[in-house]
Amino acid sequence: MCGIVGYVGRQTALKVVIDGLRRLEYRGYDSAGVALVSDGELFTERRAGKLANLDAALADAEPPQSMTGIGHTRWATHGAPTDRNAHPHVGRQGRVALVHNGIIENFAALRTKLEAAGHELDSDTDTEVAARLLEAEVAAGADLTEAMQDVCRQLEGAFTLVAVSVDDPDRVVAARRNSPLVVGLGRGENFLASDVAAFIEHTRDALELGQDQVVTITPDKVAVSDFHGNPAEGKPFHVDWDIAAAEKSGYDYFMLKEIEEQPKAIADTLLGRLTETGRLQLDEMRLSDDELRAIDKIIIIACGTAFHAGLVAKYAIEHWTRIPCEVELSSEFRYRDPIIDRDTMVIAISQSGETMDTLMALRHARQQRAKVLAISNSNGSTIPRESDAVLYTHAGPEIAVASTKAFLTQIVACHLIALYLAQVRGTKYGDEITEIVGQLEQIPAAVTEVLAALEPVRELAREMGEARLVLFLGRHVGYPVALEGALKLKELAYIHAEGFAAGELKHGPIALIDQGTPVFVVVPPKGRGSLHDKMISSIQEVRARGARTIILAEQGDDKVLPYADQLIALPKVPTLMQPLVATVPLQAFSCEMAMVKGLDVDQPRNLAKSVTVE
Ligand code: AGP
Repeated sequence: MCGIVGYVGRQTALKVVIDGLRRLEYRGYDSAGVALVSDGELFTERRAGKLANLDAALADAEPPQSMTGIGHTRWATHGAPTDRNAHPHVGRQGRVALVHNGIIENFAALRTKLEAAGHELDSDTDTEVAARLLEAEVAAGADLTEAMQDVCRQLEGAFTLVAVSVDDPDRVVAARRNSPLVVGLGRGENFLASDVAAFIEHTRDALELGQDQVVTITPDKVAVSDFHGNPAEGKPFHVDWDIAAAEKSGYDYFMLKEIEEQPKAIADTLLGRLTETGRLQLDEMRLSDDELRAIDKIIIIACGTAFHAGLVAKYAIEHWTRIPCEVELSSEFRYRDPIIDRDTMVIAISQSGETMDTLMALRHARQQRAKVLAISNSNGSTIPRESDAVLYTHAGPEIAVASTKAFLTQIVACHLIALYLAQVRGTKYGDEITEIVGQLEQIPAAVTEVLAALEPVRELAREMGEARLVLFLGRHVGYPVALEGALKLKELAYIHAEGFAAGELKHGPIALIDQGTPVFVVVPPKGRGSLHDKMISSIQEVRARGARTIILAEQGDDKVLPYADQLIALPKVPTLMQPLVATVPLQAFSCEMAMVKGLDVDQPRNLAKSVTVE
C-alpha cells in the first residue's frame, strides 16, 4: 500500500517524481521521500507525514538538478511513520538509494547477517536491509541491474523495489514479486510506478510486468529479466483514461466527484456488452462455453466493499443461473480448506487488482484447479493477470480510499457474468436476458435521480455529527447494503457503525438500541410482499425501543411512512438492482459526516487505497 515512482529521461526528475507521488498519495500517506542522482552525488530527502511535509523540506534543501530519480509515499508496516523510517533508504556508503512496497518476510535474518558483518542500521525497516544488501553488491562490482537480481534471489515475501545508484546515473532499476509495478513508456524518457496514475500525464503507453521480474529503464531503453538475469518480456497495454479523470475537477474531494460519476461508471461498464441481435458478449471472458456449462459451484472472494458487492451479486447469480454461490472473505478463504475442483468458478473482485488477501486466495484456488475470473477496475494489475479470465469495470480511476463507484460497477459486472452464464447454460431465454440488461441500462438514470435529491441526507449528517453509534438494517440484497453503509461510516467518520440482517436483530443486537439510536433501514420494494412486511415488523421492533429510524424505501411506499423519522425515497428498480440506488444516499451521508467532523475524506486515518500486505 505504498506509492512508488521512478523516472529517467530529459525532464527534471524531481518534478516528475513529486507530481507522480501526488497522484499516488491515496495509496499511503504516513511519510514521503525522494532520491536524485546528479554529478556523482546521491541526494535524498524524506519526511514523516503527508507529501506537503516533504515539499516544505525540499524548498529549504535546494535539491540538485537531476534527470534520474525515485520517490515514495508510505503506509507503514515495519517501523513507525517517522523521518528515519521514511523511504528512500540508502546503503552503507550512501551510494545506492531504494524505495519499497510490500513486506520482506526474511528481513530479520538478513539484518542479523548484516549486523554481524559490521553494519549499523539506522531504521526499523525491512527496506533498509535490502538497501544495504544492494549497495554491498554494487560495491563488490555488480552493476545496479545485476545487484538487484542478486538481492531479489535472497528475499522472501512481497516486494516492489525501485533503486538508483551514483555508479549508474542514467538508469533506474526495479523488481517485483506479489506487489504492483508498471512501466510508463515515453520518448527519450521512461517511468516506473505502482499505478499508471503517476505517469499518464506524460504517456499512456505502459508495460505490465510479470512475477519475479527485474526491469531496467534508461532514457531510451527498457530491459526486463527474471531474477537470474534471463531476458523476459513485459506485456504492453494502453491506458484507457486520461489525466483529467485522475483530477478532482473542481470537487473538494475525490470522493464527492466519484459519487457523482456513478451513473457514467455504470453506463461505461455496460457499454458494448450486447450484440445487435441482443446477445450478451463478454470478450474478456476467455472461458469456453463448455467450461462455463461445466461450472457447478461459484465462490466469490473479496475484501471490504468488494466483499459486499459479492454478497449482493450472490442473489442474482443464484436466481438467474441456479448455480450455488458462496461469498467468502479473501483473508479467510484458503484457511477454511475450501472444497474446490476444476468445475468450480472462483470470482475474485478487486478494484485495485492488487489486494494481497485476494491475490493469495486466488492463487490457492488456481492450485486447486478452479477457474478464476477477476473483476477489476485496474488494467494491468496483478489479480487480472493471474486469472483465467477478467471482466473490467470501466469506472475510471477511483482515487478516494473509500470505494463508491467501484462498488456499484462491481455489482453490475457480477450481474453481467450471471446473465452470461444463464445465456450459455440456457437458464434464461434471450429475450429475458435482453429485458434484464435493459433494466440495468435504466440504472444510470435512477442513480442520477438519487444524486439530485441528496441534500436532505447531507442535512441529516450535519445534524448527527455527535452520533456515537449508528446501525444499518437490511434484508435480502438490502443486507449487504447495510454492511456497506456501516463500513463507509466507520472508515470515513470513525464512528462505530454496524450493519445487520434485520431478522437477526432480535437475536441479540437489539440490546444496542437506546433512546434516539439512529437506525438506517433499507426496505425491500413493496412488490416483495412478505419480505417487505417483515421489514416493517423489524422497524416497529426498534422504534418500540426508542430508535430514530431513517428509512430508505422506494417512491410510493406509503406503508413505511408511519414508522419513518426520516424518509429517503428511492427510484423504483427491480429488487436485485435496488442496492445500486440504495447505497448512494449512504455514501453521501458518510462523506458529509466526515466533512462535518473536519476529517480527511479522501485519505482517512490508518487506511490505504490498496492493501498489498496480508
Ligand atoms: C472500501 O471503501 C475500502 N477502501 C476497502 O474495504 C476496499 O474495498 C478493500 O480493501 C478491497 O479493495 P480492492 O477492491 O482494491 O481489492
